[in-house]
Amino acid sequence: MPKLVVNVDHIATIRQARLAREPDPVQAAFLAELGGAEGIIVHLREDRRHINDRDVELIGKTVQTNLHLEMAATEEMQSIALAREPYMVCLVPEKRQELTTEGGLNLVGQEQRFKEFLEPIQARGIHSSLFIDAEPHQIRAASEIGAEFIEIHTGHFADALREDERGVQLQRILEGITAAGELGLKVNLGHGLNYTNIKAFARVPSIREYSIGHSIVARASLTGLEQAVRDMVGIIRTFAD
Ligand code: PXP
Repeated sequence: MPKLVVNVDHIATIRQARLAREPDPVQAAFLAELGGAEGIIVHLREDRRHINDRDVELIGKTVQTNLHLEMAATEEMQSIALAREPYMVCLVPEKRQELTTEGGLNLVGQEQRFKEFLEPIQARGIHSSLFIDAEPHQIRAASEIGAEFIEIHTGHFADALREDERGVQLQRILEGITAAGELGLKVNLGHGLNYTNIKAFARVPSIREYSIGHSIVARASLTGLEQAVRDMVGIIRTFAD
């Protein structure tokens, strides 16, 4: 049975928009677990644009399931991972200008670098994952590097507007899942998955985890809005008493 692992970066994005104290991704992680999430993901970016070091520390200490740390393959992030010892580290490419992660890592030709980067992390018993596009040469490189997992980037599939293009992207992902399985890699999926497009994977075997953030936080902001307004109206009404 695949697991849902919830990314709480988007809660931190709302907090940082006002440089405020709420909403707190630590509390969001707790609620996501109450809802059935089997893991919590945070992406600690080099520029700390949403999740910060305090969030990683507190979520790591309070999570009841397990913490997945998404990060770039930099020395700073490696020492944070070794200090915090999350359940899993997922390496992602990172560009300062991007709105969100735009594509998978390019591992080809950099196998040795990634292997050496992951070695101390794996030696601590931390699970390792590489975020890549469903391209055969990237999947082979991930296997050579010795990662335990790959996370296949589903963003191109999710973003495709036309059905035929979506079909092409889906087929690419399905072939990637099969190829990865043949090489002994475990497969997670993530990016752009929502309440509609996730159904495409309903009958696909051997997917370990779905990594989902934006669509869940977007839905929560609407499904929770009516009650939030009701709560404020309730307080204001008490003023007349
Ligand atoms: N996986 C990776 C590697 C990501 O960078 C992100 C975005 O933070 C996600 C999954 C989750 O994507 P989304 O927020 O679109 O669900």
